[in-house]
Amino acid sequence: MTRYARIVGWGKFLPPKVLTNFDLERMVDTSDEWIRTRTGIRERHMVNDPNIASSDLAVEAAKRALSVADMTAGDIDLIMVATSTPDHLFPATACIVQDKLGATQAGAFDVSAACSGFIYGLALARGLIASGEIDTILLIGTEVLSRFVDWNDRETCVLFGDGAGAVVIKASEERGGVMASMLGADGSGASLLGLPMGGSRLPPSVDGIAEGENHIKMKGRPIFRFAVHVMAESSRVVMEKMGWAPEDVDLVVPHQANERIIRAAMKQLKIPMEKAYLNIATHGNTSTASVPMVLVDAINEGRIKQGSKLVLTGFGAGLTYAAVAIEWGARTPAPEAPIHRNILRKIGYNLAHVRSAMRRAVRAFYGFLLGPEEGGGWRVPIRQKFDEWLGLRGKEK
Ligand code: ACO
Repeated sequence: MTRYARIVGWGKFLPPKVLTNFDLERMVDTSDEWIRTRTGIRERHMVNDPNIASSDLAVEAAKRALSVADMTAGDIDLIMVATSTPDHLFPATACIVQDKLGATQAGAFDVSAACSGFIYGLALARGLIASGEIDTILLIGTEVLSRFVDWNDRETCVLFGDGAGAVVIKASEERGGVMASMLGADGSGASLLGLPMGGSRLPPSVDGIAEGENHIKMKGRPIFRFAVHVMAESSRVVMEKMGWAPEDVDLVVPHQANERIIRAAMKQLKIPMEKAYLNIATHGNTSTASVPMVLVDAINEGRIKQGSKLVLTGFGAGLTYAAVAIEWGARTPAPEAPIHRNILRKIGYNLAHVRSAMRRAVRAFYGFLLGPEEGGGWRVPIRQKFDEWLGLRGKEK
């Protein structure tokens, strides 16, 4: 029996601070007119609290998606977080999200495919659900790009924004959901866009920071050309897999990198521009968060209904590109979850904090009780007993 991967919950979160093109005019040599006409962007949201990281935005979007799905964190089997700006190089941001939500039954890992990451995640989710391995997946795209942007580089700082979008994907025997996918990459373009410092190739160093290697570097023009081609091509592939002609598609959900890229790709696809949803004017390029946030906005605006045929397409650093075809299955707008269920979820999130704090306290207590490897005085026999229990050493005769 075919198992379909249907999207049953969705949510987005934008940090409240808005940075307009006019704000940027005061920071670098640019103009509102240049940014609007070359990119379509008017403003973008950004995190201005140094204590907030990608996982925090992800958790907020996830809570909204779980509320729409009317599920609790305990219902999730797997969390995938697509991000280009993880909280850390490792551990995975998905694990931090898992802990914050209290999704104790869930596995967790990050998807690293830059702006295509969310669509890669949808393709993975479809495969995992179809195989019968997993029933319920929480997929999130989240970014705090503002922390890695060079605010003196007018060619990049005008483009990016922060935010997060999430979906809950559930196995169903009823036809619908993510029906076809296409994943692509061209690593020969890896140097066109990226964050040079922080990995094993160029670990963090004072010299590197002085040279600005801790900021996003981009060669815009070749990416532009690549983007138009692969957004159209990947969309065409999934449409062919579905047997859809351009007129069959109800809505294209494109990665929001540049309005001109989207217009050119739509022209190549011979799909009228009215069938593409855009929020780039108010969001900028939010990398992995872009596609899920467009999806949420399109649903909220009534552009997606049960039975709608959607093409989601994107590209990004890597270079990567991807598309999926979706036959929308869920009711829109989503019915309000009953109040008592929302209260239950809230209690669950608070309990998750308590549970996490307790687990850390228990670990700290063991650490104290067992003491350091060398010495430890009164702790030596306790350590011996504990090691025996763990099977790390045989019983003392
Ligand atoms: N304000 C004013 N002038 C600017 C600015 C700015 N913010 N930025 C560049 N310019 C200038 C350039 O210096 C150049 O001046 P010159 O002609 O004197 O040399 C002129 O504007 C034109 O520059 P171009 O690079 O040709 O401008 P273009 O029309 O290509 O637009 C842009 C640049 C917006 C970057 C475009 O190339 C683009 O969108 N490329 C794709 C980038 C992209 O999508 N990146 C994200 C990928 S997704 C991910 O993984 C995060």
